[in-house]
Amino acid sequence: MKLRNLWLGTAAIVALAGTNAFGQIGISRHNFSSYGWSGGEICKPCHTPHFATMAFPLWNHDLTNATYTMHEGEGTAAANIDSRSRMCLGCHDGTVALDSFGGATGTNFIGPLGNVGIDLTDDHPIGSDAIYPTAASTSFNPQDASHRVGGLRLRSWINPSGVEEYVVGCSTCHAVHNTGNYGHMLRMSNASSALCLTCHIK
Ligand code: HEC
Ligand code: HEC
Ligand code: HEC
Ligand code: HEC
Repeated sequence: MKLRNLWLGTAAIVALAGTNAFGQIGISRHNFSSYGWSGGEICKPCHTPHFATMAFPLWNHDLTNATYTMHEGEGTAAANIDSRSRMCLGCHDGTVALDSFGGATGTNFIGPLGNVGIDLTDDHPIGSDAIYPTAASTSFNPQDASHRVGGLRLRSWINPSGVEEYVVGCSTCHAVHNTGNYGHMLRMSNASSALCLTCHIK
């Protein structure tokens, strides 16, 4: 990067920091405070300090119970999707309203840009469609003992035989709080396909 660009970049970050007191999530599309349906809240559509529907991470939003068309056939939110991705799909599959949190039944649904729908065959595999190999492989980089590949964390999924497997979930690639502020709230930059090449040997 040329020094001049570096300077402009720094100036832009300083400007953003100056106008937003809410950190990385504040400058992301997960800052819901400007939408009417959020009641001006940032954290509350997703978390609550009390009466959570799920202990970790003190989840406040209704979960989806959708049936999906997956790469490997029909699947359900409860049986085929890892629990972290199920949280995301509770807004992003378009079946549960954005404002269905804190026990309320909402009426505002996600717009077309964020709606991955219930046909997941046009999306990168997740959950039972994306079981990460544990054996050495010529197609995939190995996962380590803490189920990470490079800086990316695989997600726990219990298969129908009750065995825990490690899979790719939405939050393997995306950082829900926009940590790092990469484009599309990715966990790392995907410049030169770096994100994809973390797992796939190509
Ligand atoms: C769009 C939904 C969403 C919003 C908005 C959100 N979170 Fe989270 N948060 C999550 C999810 C999902 C996790 C689980 C972490 C993971 O899977 O990587 C999490 C985890 C956490 C955790 C525990 C682990 C960690 O990452 O530190 C804390 C603390 C937390 N959130 C605080 C907050 C606060 C404070 C706010 C508001 C400023 C907030 N979150 C806004 C979805 C959200
Ligand atoms: C409370 C509802 C809600 C939950 C839960 C939620 N999101 Fe979102 N998300 C949204 C909305 C609303 C947008 C903005 C969509 C738009 O601009 O039309 C969005 C946008 C995004 C974007 C686009 C960011 C960009 O800059 O292109 C990504 C990626 C994303 N969410 C991933 C996730 C992931 C991963 C999770 C789970 C860890 C998650 N979301 C959970 C509501 C949610
Ligand atoms: C294998 C990595 C990976 C997984 C898994 C993944 N995404 Fe993404 N996602 C990406 C990348 C890369 C982009 C940016 C695509 C681009 O540059 O056009 C993206 C973009 C998005 C966007 C922005 C779309 C837009 O046009 O604004 C949303 C919303 C989103 N993802 C949600 C999700 C949700 C919800 C899940 C889980 C169901 C998910 N993602 C799983 C890698 C992934
Ligand atoms: C965290 C590891 C991981 C990352 C990062 C990742 N993938 Fe994958 N990818 C997988 C796994 C696991 C599968 C499922 C393989 C299987 O079951 O056959 C898969 C499957 C695929 C497939 C085959 C889909 C099909 O229809 O069978 C394509 C294409 C693909 N990935 C492309 C990408 C691209 C492009 C990126 C970057 C945006 C990416 N992957 C990032 C792990 C990853």
